[in-house]
Order: sequence, then structure tokens, then C-alpha cells
Amino acid sequence: GRGPLVLGIETSCDETGVGLVRDGVLLADALASSVDEHARYGGVVPEIAARAHLEAMVPTVERALAAAGARPADLDAVAVTAGPGLAGALLVGVAAAKAYALALGVPLYGVHHLAAHVAVDTLEHGPLPSPSIALLVSGGHSSLLLVEDLAAAPVVSLGATVDDAAGEAYDKVARLLGMPFPGGPPIDRAAGEGSPTIPFPRGKAGDGTFDFSFSGLKTAVARWVEARRRAGEPVPVADVAASFQEAVVDVLTAKAVGAARAHGVDTIVIGGGVAANSRLRALAAERCSAAGITLRVPRPGLCTDNGAMVAALGALQVAAGVAPSPLDLPASSTLPL
Ligand code: KG4
Ligand code: ZN
Repeated sequence: GRGPLVLGIETSCDETGVGLVRDGVLLADALASSVDEHARYGGVVPEIAARAHLEAMVPTVERALAAAGARPADLDAVAVTAGPGLAGALLVGVAAAKAYALALGVPLYGVHHLAAHVAVDTLEHGPLPSPSIALLVSGGHSSLLLVEDLAAAPVVSLGATVDDAAGEAYDKVARLLGMPFPGGPPIDRAAGEGSPTIPFPRGKAGDGTFDFSFSGLKTAVARWVEARRRAGEPVPVADVAASFQEAVVDVLTAKAVGAARAHGVDTIVIGGGVAANSRLRALAAERCSAAGITLRVPRPGLCTDNGAMVAALGALQVAAGVAPSPLDLPASSTLPL
């Protein structure tokens, strides 16, 4: 039979995402982005992001409904990212989700942004085995999680970055190399033309924790590039990009495999914007295969922020009989797992 039709709304950063999911199938994934408005500032400006969400919210919901051939009255539940993220940006999505839920008389589900990044993988690869290890790497977070039951149980954090997020490091190094924001895609492309010949530091590698650190790496790249410029020598941009990227993905994949081994888990799922990275995907596949671990990574378009991930987690919660959120659900910039 036909299961519930779940609308998902994501506004935690600079993407207004609206997804529609039914029976584990993605029916629509509409996106509006304010990324171009932030580019000249080299990072996301919270006030600009919130205003852009406000303008894009209703049109993006309407686009998603039209793409799925659905009407508002067809919706059975509304899910929304309640946090973590930019407070003003989150508020726009949460207010919109409450309005739709109240107007349509359907339950509201406030979901955690990181859990949603994991849940989106079920749209491509089916139910997630329990337990699994999740590596979440984006502009705002870098975390290793132990996932028991995505819908019902809280996700356990095994470790996280102690300074910059992995995506943040990509964005800062890209800026240093004169590449546009966001820096992940141009560094990924440049790295493909170079070789990882510069031995940049692997922060917190082999320290026995599942934490990360990328700030020292960023500084090391900056010093290396400055020394070249001071000496009047050309900067081998492709090699710098490849060496930086190798340092990031080496630590990420080593710690993810280490976490799986330490917890006797045989599935790793990778999510977040940096999971779109070609070298991360390749090295993770290589190391997981060598360790007998099943690797699950959604297609790049589902790794970056989107509404599908929120609809996916909302649908899992509906199916698991999780209690809906109250209509005074707060948006929380620091929502804990
Ligand atoms: O998940 P996401 O869309 O938003 C946050 O929740 O932060 O992640 C955005 C981040 C940015 O830092 C961007 O540079 C990075 O993901 N990113 C990449 C790639 N594509 C996006 N990093 C490395 N390689 C990529 N191909
Ligand atoms: Zn994200």
C-alpha cells in the first residue's frame, strides 16, 4: 500500500531544501541556494542566509509539490531541521514547517541535521544496518557517530573536530589559493591535476581518539604557500591542493575505519558536503574494502544540504512510531545529538 507522504524542510545554512519522500522513495528534491550571495564574503553570512530562506521558502515547497505531482492536502507529515545550524536560518524553516503542519492538520517532526545527513543514504541504499559508523563531514561539522537506530534512538558521538570542520578547512585553503567559495569543488578539481608530494601534517592522527583537527593543517598550508611567494617562486597550486586534500582524507578514512574496528561494526556511511569529494570517496572505498567493511556513500547531490535528507529522517520517524514534536518546537543552533 501507499505509506505516508512526508515533506522535509532544511534551512540550517545557505540552502533552502524541500524534499518529498514516500515509502523510502524520493519523489522530489527542490533546492534554492544563496551561495552566490555569500561568495564575495568568503563564507556564509547568517543574516543574508535567513533573508534568502524567507524569500525562497514557499516557492521551493511549491516546486517540490509540483515535481511530485502532489497537492498540499496530500501531505501526511512535515519534518524540519530543528538544529544545529544558524539560528536565524533555522527559524525560517521551523516557522514554515509549523505553519504547514498546523494548516494541514498533520504531525510535525523536528529532526537533527546530522542524523538527517545519515538518513539520506537510506533513499539510495535501503535500510541502514544497525549498528553502523557514520562519518559526517561538512562546512559546519566533522563527526564520527555510532548509529544504532536512526529513527528512534539517539546517535552516539564518538568524536568530532576540536577546531575547524573539514569543509571549513577546504574553504579556507581554497581562499588562500585564490579559488572561489565554497572551496571543496575547486580544490577537488585542482587536486586531480596534481600529486600529493608535500608532507602536510595529519592532525590528531594515531592519537587514539576519534577526534579531528584541521586548523594546524590549514596553517601549515598557509605557511608553505607564503614561503614560496616570499621567495618569488611559483606556487604549484595543483600539488598544494592534492597534498592538502590527501592529509584531510587520510585522517578521515583512517579514523572511520578505526572506529568501525573498535566497535565491531561492519558498515560505514559517509555524509555531509565533503562526502562529495572524489578522493575521500576513492580512499574510503579502498580502505573499507581492505578492512572487510561495507561502505555506503550517497550520490554527491545528496551529500550536500538538501530537503530530501530531512524528509528521509522524518519518514523513518513516522514509520517507527516516534512521537511528533510539539507546535512550539524551538529551533536550536546547538541542538545536541
Ligand atoms: O553539508 P554542506 O552542504 O553544508 C554544511 O552543512 O556545512 O557542506 C558544505 C561544505 C563546504 O565546506 C564545501 O566546500 C564542502 O562541503 N564540499 C566539498 C566538496 N563539495 C562540497 N569538499 C570537498 N570536496 C568536494 N567535492
Ligand atoms: Zn550539513
